[in-house]
Amino acid sequence: MNDHVTHVTHPLVQHKLTLMRQKDTSTAGFRQLLREISQLLAYEVTRGLPMTTRQIETPLQKMDAPVIDGKKLALVSILRAGNGLLDGVLELIPSARVGFVGLYRDEVTLEPVQYYFKVPTELEDRLVIAVDPMLATGNSSVAAIDLLKKAGATNIRFLCLLASPEGIARMKQAHPDVPIVTAAIDEKLNEKGYIVPGLGDAGDRMFGTK
Ligand code: URA
Repeated sequence: MNDHVTHVTHPLVQHKLTLMRQKDTSTAGFRQLLREISQLLAYEVTRGLPMTTRQIETPLQKMDAPVIDGKKLALVSILRAGNGLLDGVLELIPSARVGFVGLYRDEVTLEPVQYYFKVPTELEDRLVIAVDPMLATGNSSVAAIDLLKKAGATNIRFLCLLASPEGIARMKQAHPDVPIVTAAIDEKLNEKGYIVPGLGDAGDRMFGTK
């Protein structure tokens, strides 16, 4: 994966995303759509993984059959909205190891502050897929990836549902080595840091909070 941003334009992804954006979509509907779309995005974000072969026996004969090479990959959810993407991706990659990064924004400095960090061991030997549905200002994504690199990760991909041009630019400047996979690149951020047209607050919509 060499391009910095992969925009997944598959009709199923785009159709489901439109349903998610609609303000009258219920919490249950939103969650179900997110689960479905996450699986389709997982398919894209794992494209080009290194492969090897394993000798197996079909009912007819032996063969060298393709399997994914290397250590189990690590999925890292950026709390809390990342958990919505995580569930669907895990359904497609059930043997993945899972980590969590929790960050909040300090009200005075406006800088992201870490409140939780737990990731799989041997991060340096794994493909790490960081998941967060909304790449908005990019501040928390950049900070989360800083932490993952500090913990040893060298091969990181970032998976989101919606990205703003500002967020993509911020990520590209801070982490040009981290490819982004997204279902949409929206118009801009508004003055409150929301993506427009967007889908609102992803965490609130998936968990039914306000
Ligand atoms: N986080 C969200 O949940 N929504 C946005 O539009 C921006 C950040």
